[in-house]
Amino acid sequence: MSRNRLVAGNWKMHGSRAANQALLDALLAGIAGTNAVECAVCAPFPYLQQVSERLKGSALAWGAQNVSEHEQGAFTGEVSAAMLREFGCRYVIVGHSERRQLYGESDARVAAKFAAAQRAGLTPILCVGETLEAREAGRTEEVVARQLDAVAIDPKAPAVLAYEPVWAIGTGRNASPEQAQAVHAFLRKKLPGEMRVVYGGSVKAQNAAALFAMPDIDGGLIGGASLLAQDFIGIVKAAAAAAASERVGT
Ligand code: PGA
Repeated sequence: MSRNRLVAGNWKMHGSRAANQALLDALLAGIAGTNAVECAVCAPFPYLQQVSERLKGSALAWGAQNVSEHEQGAFTGEVSAAMLREFGCRYVIVGHSERRQLYGESDARVAAKFAAAQRAGLTPILCVGETLEAREAGRTEEVVARQLDAVAIDPKAPAVLAYEPVWAIGTGRNASPEQAQAVHAFLRKKLPGEMRVVYGGSVKAQNAAALFAMPDIDGGLIGGASLLAQDFIGIVKAAAAAAASERVGT
């Protein structure tokens, strides 16, 4: 696998200036020596300045959790991709299931956000995933295909795909490595280029190695465990170990 692994934290609506500083300090110390893995944290908007200053010149990239599909204008409460880019932001999560479910983001809106992010030079992390109801009805592939097909993917523009089964997010019940691998392989076949496909949903230091050993799982999007430095570092180390064992094996 030539794709570089990515482990990205999604802090969601958590943090404070003091907590962020302690977390970033611990992460920077803890991820030293894991160069084979790209690491990032996606912080709430008000903390992007703090995060960008602390991480400048470091191996830890950073991103936002949402972006407007519009360039500018009368959109109260929204933040444009160009504004994020001006900070030096690299990533932005689009289409997280919490945005889709709690804020009514449609496939079309997610697709517009994805395009706006790329136009501004950001790398969108596009989330797709089925609900428990859809999985139990045997509709997993249909749902993730619909979510992915709504988005115009240019193989030359940087982007990351995250498979996040809704039933695994924040529940402590991760997809088994085999369940995740099956969906990743399905998604991979639909992609035009060498895009990374990461898994999200209750990834912890204890289950990360088994997930990252799967051939089509290129890393993780980490919620709860990204708020605890030792847990996040453990996940990054599991990704580094998976990358190292692959080099030995090839
Ligand atoms: P979780 O969240 O790791 O807490 O399950 C993942 C996500 O929502 O991206």
